[in-house]
Amino acid sequence: MSLRPQLTLIAAISEDGFISRGQGVPWDLPRDRIHFRNATAGKWLLIGRRTYQEMLGWFQDHTPLVLTQNTTFVPSVGKAVHNIHEAIDLAAEAHAPELFVCGGRMVYADSIPHADRLLITHVKTVLGTGVPFPRFGSPHWHLISKIEHPADAENALAICFATYERQQDNSVE
Ligand SMILES: NC(=O)c1ccc[n+]([C@@H]2O[C@H](COP(=O)([O-])OP(=O)(O)OC[C@H]3O[C@@H](n4cnc5c(N)ncnc54)[C@H](OP(=O)(O)O)[C@@H]3O)[C@@H](O)[C@H]2O)c1
Repeated sequence: MSLRPQLTLIAAISEDGFISRGQGVPWDLPRDRIHFRNATAGKWLLIGRRTYQEMLGWFQDHTPLVLTQNTTFVPSVGKAVHNIHEAIDLAAEAHAPELFVCGGRMVYADSIPHADRLLITHVKTVLGTGVPFPRFGSPHWHLISKIEHPADAENALAICFATYERQQDNSVE
């Protein structure tokens, strides 16, 4: 039997809890793109079909598993999957130590109950409306590190890279 990979959600979230205004990422932050690249290099990714299509051309050494309801969709990179358990099983069979969940909304919502770790970029801006990230916090999630970066010439918004781990009580959110 294969070991289940660690499940990590990675997302950039506004102060009021949104990942997007609906189309694309609503900020241009090279520092966060580097962070995302470094965290996911060489990793298996679980990604919604819309976000996958926005990111086409970006995948290098990644193995993207594209979540879709369309049984005839064949991604040009990676594989199609039709639920998160299929993705976890594929990654486990390949002995991948970790599977990164890269959004969007339903993919995060479906996978957060099974997640072990959250890598969250807190973006210091308020969107007011948009595509929400699921609510999370104590008692299920424990902040284990945070690194603050002020805005600068290349990055118009201040950000904070935060890592959260699930509290070891085996309950789900
Ligand atoms: N700030 C961030 O960190 C961040 C991260 C990711 C995405 N985003 C942004 O968020 C925006 C919104 O993304 P989104 O939520 O609309 O799209 P998405 O999750 O990337 O893609 C939605 C599609 O994924 C498939 N899907 C989702 N849940 C499924 C399930 N349970 N079973 C089977 N298929 C499922 C469906 O594909 P089919 O229609 O093919 O069936 C659905 O139409 C994007 O513009 C993206 O740029 C931001």
